[in-house]
Amino acid sequence: MLLHVLGTAAGGGTPQWNCACPGCSGARAHPHRRRRHASLAVQAGEGRWYIVNATPDIGDQIEAEPGLHPGPGLRQTPVAGLVLTDAELDHTLGIARLREADGLEVLATAPVRQALMDRLHLGAVLGPYTSVTWRELPLRGSEPLDGGAAALHISAIPVSGKRPRYAADAPDDDAWVIALRLYDPASGTSAVYAPALAAWPDHLQQAAAEADLVIVDGTFWDDEEPRRTGISSRTATGMGHLPIDGPGGTAELLAPLDARCLYTHLNNTNPLVDPAAPQHKRLARLGIEVAHDGMEIEL
Ligand code: MLT
Ligand code: MN
Ligand code: ZN
Repeated sequence: MLLHVLGTAAGGGTPQWNCACPGCSGARAHPHRRRRHASLAVQAGEGRWYIVNATPDIGDQIEAEPGLHPGPGLRQTPVAGLVLTDAELDHTLGIARLREADGLEVLATAPVRQALMDRLHLGAVLGPYTSVTWRELPLRGSEPLDGGAAALHISAIPVSGKRPRYAADAPDDDAWVIALRLYDPASGTSAVYAPALAAWPDHLQQAAAEADLVIVDGTFWDDEEPRRTGISSRTATGMGHLPIDGPGGTAELLAPLDARCLYTHLNNTNPLVDPAAPQHKRLARLGIEVAHDGMEIEL
């Protein structure tokens, strides 16, 4: 299994265009601290890749990754399709950016597809540009991502009913946000990718306990961070993101796992966006890493 981390930031990115917080200012002064929106490229077969979440940075993310470049045919692309973990704008605005595609396959759960069709009108908007083929993510059992018996298998684990603000009144469903499980029958390895965690359900714990790699939501360091830094009147949990540190935080859930564990989807207020922050040592002692843009992981 081959994975490329295309981005590791929460909505807004680091730096965020309208933000002068220490994290954003630090990234303007030190370009290596910049983080694009959280995204992951998954190799489904030789020269065929799926991109997990279509961020506002998707064009630059494809350009930054030679394996995703087109050719040798004029409009021949190795990007076979998109997989969505949720309907949030930071994970879906990039879909329209790919409108030059001959055709686009998008894997999502039913409530996510519904929100994109009924609220963002993506079906009507994209129809005149390209043909989008929607495929429902399997919530029970797994299926080959891209043909072939030895192909990578994908399944979705329902995580929470957290809906985007633009669909706040849409019906409840625990598949609004999912964690992806990828399984490679050739190597027998599995990975869990969960960039949005409002909860840690039993099925996720089970998949994480069996996995070789776990990449999860590291939006906020602690529950008070959004209030302390002045970006919100809500706590991290109130905003739908389990914090890393503290009781009920994700660090204590990841620490006992056998898997290699990494955080992604870091908000620009998270102290971890500064490579010199002491919080990095705290995580290292627990055996947990912070993902960075451009990381390549082979399992
Ligand atoms: C989130 O992760 O909570 C959302 O993406 C927030 C946003 O960018 O609107
Ligand atoms: Mn987000
Ligand atoms: Zn900022």
